[in-house]
Amino acid sequence: MEDYFLGVHQQELERLDRQHTAWQPSTEQLIKRANLPNCKSILDFGCGPGFTTFEIAKHCPNTQITALDKATLYQDYLKHQIEQKKIKNIQPLYEDVLNLLNHADTYDGAFCRWVLAFLIPDLKEILSAIYEKLNPGGVFAAMEYLTLGNVLSSPPNDGFLANTKGWHNFYLTNGGDANIGTYLPKLLQEAGFTLEHQTCVGGFAPVGHRWWHWWRDAHENFAPVFVEQNLMTEEERLEANAFFKAQETNEKGFIFSPIILQVVARK
Ligand SMILES: C[S@@+](CC[C@H](N)C(=O)[O-])C[C@H]1O[C@@H](n2cnc3c(N)ncnc32)[C@H](O)[C@@H]1O
Repeated sequence: MEDYFLGVHQQELERLDRQHTAWQPSTEQLIKRANLPNCKSILDFGCGPGFTTFEIAKHCPNTQITALDKATLYQDYLKHQIEQKKIKNIQPLYEDVLNLLNHADTYDGAFCRWVLAFLIPDLKEILSAIYEKLNPGGVFAAMEYLTLGNVLSSPPNDGFLANTKGWHNFYLTNGGDANIGTYLPKLLQEAGFTLEHQTCVGGFAPVGHRWWHWWRDAHENFAPVFVEQNLMTEEERLEANAFFKAQETNEKGFIFSPIILQVVARK
């Protein structure tokens, strides 16, 4: 099974950990909003190293959680953490979500965060498979980018803008889409789901806010890749670096972060 385009390696695993810290309060809200603790079984697909899985397990101690991902490094990390933490209700599943229907299990709930945006060509098929895998009345909670179109900084900066554009095009040129949240609700309905709740998180992030750190971190890790893929120039990368560095001490500086859609859909 091939890695997806963000890449799977130790540095990215550590970034995903920090990313979870930045978005933990919003993720927790979604878990509660979808009433996941009510589910006897949950599929967390594209779970990565398991930061979402452990978050779900914390809130759902009586739920059997299946943690599906196709990255061996992340599944190995997950297994190690399960052993270390002596967790009994997480079952790792090394699998491509595209093969979900090959498995007999069904679930009361499904969850994903930052997964579907990588799977645009197969989106309809995956949503139908999730629908099929849910028991009647089952719930699907997803957290995916709404857009990067709003991402701005104060003060404005060309390097910062070039970085945002780099992200947007990085998704598009590799078969993904960071605007997925604009049409995901419609596709969920077409797959048979009833939309139960929708909201957006992200936005105003003063310097030092967890979303500010997250966006800077993502820039530092990925801008070199954007330069390699001709999605940004080296000068723009350096300008964005210098901008974030200068913002550190600008107590009135802020960014408007990417906006994330949270959706709860019912079978
Ligand atoms: C950005 S990470 C998000 C991880 C986790 N959901 C989180 O929020 O921390 C995306 C994950 O989706 C997984 N993924 C991408 N395509 C997949 C596929 N076709 N089947 C299973 N997992 C996939 C990747 O291996 C990666 O772990």
